[in-house]
Amino acid sequence: MRKSINFNSGWLYSPIHLGLAEPDDTFESVTLPHSNKLFPHSNNDNLDYQFISHYRKHFFYQKEIQDEQVFLDFDGVMVACKVFLNRELLYENLGGYRPFSVNLTPGLQNSDNVLDLIVDSNERKDIPPFGHLVDYLTYGGIYRDVHLRIVNLVHINNVFILTFDVLNNPQLKCVVGLSKASSDLSLEAVLLDQEKCPIAKSKSLVDEDSCSLHFDSLPHISLWDLDNPNLYSMSISLFAENKLIDTVVERFGFRTAEFRTDGGFYLNGERIQLFGLNRHQTYPYLGAAAPKRLQEQDAEILKQELACNIVRTSHYPQSPHFLNRCDEIGLLVFEEITGWQHIGDEQWQKISLNELKAFILRDRNHPSIILWGTRINESMDDNDFYTQTNALAHRLDPTRQTGGVRNFLGSNLLEDVYTYNDFSGSIKKPPQKPHLVTEFAGHMYPTKVWDHEKRLIDHALLHARIHDEQLGHQDITGAIGWCAFDYATHIEFGSGDRVCYHGTMDIFRLPKWAAYFYQSQQPPQKEIVLHAATHWTMGDRNGGGSSPLTIFSNCEEIEVIFGEINLGRYAPDHKTYPHLLHPPFIISGLDKYNAWGQREFYDLHFKGYIENKVVAQQTIPSNRLPKALDLQLYSATLIANGADMTRLAFRIIDDFGNLLPYVSKIVNFKIEGPADIIGENPYPLFGGQAAIFIKARMETGTVTIHGFADGLPPSDVKLDIIREN
Ligand code: GAL
Repeated sequence: MRKSINFNSGWLYSPIHLGLAEPDDTFESVTLPHSNKLFPHSNNDNLDYQFISHYRKHFFYQKEIQDEQVFLDFDGVMVACKVFLNRELLYENLGGYRPFSVNLTPGLQNSDNVLDLIVDSNERKDIPPFGHLVDYLTYGGIYRDVHLRIVNLVHINNVFILTFDVLNNPQLKCVVGLSKASSDLSLEAVLLDQEKCPIAKSKSLVDEDSCSLHFDSLPHISLWDLDNPNLYSMSISLFAENKLIDTVVERFGFRTAEFRTDGGFYLNGERIQLFGLNRHQTYPYLGAAAPKRLQEQDAEILKQELACNIVRTSHYPQSPHFLNRCDEIGLLVFEEITGWQHIGDEQWQKISLNELKAFILRDRNHPSIILWGTRINESMDDNDFYTQTNALAHRLDPTRQTGGVRNFLGSNLLEDVYTYNDFSGSIKKPPQKPHLVTEFAGHMYPTKVWDHEKRLIDHALLHARIHDEQLGHQDITGAIGWCAFDYATHIEFGSGDRVCYHGTMDIFRLPKWAAYFYQSQQPPQKEIVLHAATHWTMGDRNGGGSSPLTIFSNCEEIEVIFGEINLGRYAPDHKTYPHLLHPPFIISGLDKYNAWGQREFYDLHFKGYIENKVVAQQTIPSNRLPKALDLQLYSATLIANGADMTRLAFRIIDDFGNLLPYVSKIVNFKIEGPADIIGENPYPLFGGQAAIFIKARMETGTVTIHGFADGLPPSDVKLDIIREN
């Protein structure tokens, strides 16, 4: 019977590769996911992660059944690696974003075994995305999970669940790929509902190594959609002469997703306008080696804090944990192949095709994924190559359409959807339909948390304006902005500190005001949002003052009060933003208040109304001195597995909880209990906000983190480290 063992712990690591005979005592102990190096949050040189490192793991193996097969499943190793078992080379993988499996069986001993991985994290020109410029860092190491899989010689290789007539009379086909076929084999598939209760069954004999099980009539099925992402599971069992020899459980959902030539995107037959952001998988300090919880957190932030209904995995396939969470919370995904503008030679293209195959086989049961990106982001036309990528995607998955992101119009459309990066500052009329805008804003308006308020507002309003245009554009299926989070990059890009400040949030996933625009598009039933985009100063803008005031909110009206002066209630700016559900409030004509050189400097108070009731309030005092160091943990519980991590955000705030972006302070942390701080400590804070990570060790217990900033009272937070159930 199948066993899948998490193989993340007990690794040895050496940043120097001296040879396989290198003794263990020159290594340090590490747990995966692991970055070949930790970094500061900015000013990272890509040369610093470009080296060959050595990972080693000792493990004991005892064969339990005849013909047992043992595989090592890697979710991703950056960027190439050689896998040795007991000093023999077994496998070489090329490509850092691709899952791959190594069959260990031939070299395994019935006793102690040693695995050595020689990991090449150089930006090799023969491997995508390299060969030309790349506007992001790739980092290095065994940066995703590893599992040991023990199966019978005859076992299930892959499962593809296809749904039909989902809206009228749902039916299912489950295509099972086997390692080997024979006439004494049979398969049984059991459909499990959300509570994991069996609701339907299908059986079949096996005469080929690919076999289909059909479910022609199903009990009532709940669809997967954005608000109710209902997930089902299929448990597939393989029998040899009626004896159970393998079981695989695969999660999926019932939904239809279609980009149509009428210009729209339809989920379950209903047109929805796509509203989203691009995501890079890199993090401060960790490179790309973020564990499950942080991957999941990104999906949650995109859906819950940024109100997106779609994310593009720019510009490579991303972590299974991220994609799983997108399934669970109802966030659509456009997943694309690795690359940035450059197409390499035949060998390079072969690696790209292998990657495409590997991630489609891995990901085609995710209901959240609605489009495969089969073209290197912003590359030139290459009919031969892209005919192959499209044919491969359609062969492996006839249920999904393809898109290919270009930055010019008028190219050969070999895909099903014209996906286009539009940096023109408005939405172009699409040359062909269906059409999806896959990037806008980005380098056209880089913005830092500590920029002055006019720039932060204009950045937010640029996103608001483009989304307003696209939402009103019947010929466009939607738009995905560049981008969700600031990211680390190469010397040719960014602001000189190797960071592209293109995010609606900073590199820590903490909001700029553009994030509040996104958040305010949430229905108020989910969350009431009211954020004034002002530092409330007399002298931050050119000429002074704070007029007009911009407020991002999903309230119906906002009342504005200066000290004792009540200016009355204002409506959202539907005139400028006719298509947004919740346009920003732009309140002009306030020049006489809070003007440069004026004596009266009042506190500013907002009340948000829905159906005439006050549902939200914000106060920004005139006297804005730092009052507290605010600490916020994203999760209050971690698993004692040596890798789990959560973000600890810290902000300097005023009396009313507002961020003070221009305060600079050294912030120090002390930690008590079985966890470690990952990040800069002390942290020279500017911009008012930043974050570190708290990483669990192998022991359980309570952890207290104390934060200190000069002149402010100390703050602390606690978290529990527990065993996994
Ligand atoms: C695009 C590119 C993105 C990013 C962006 C910055 O051309 O596809 O990866 O570089 O520009 O605005």
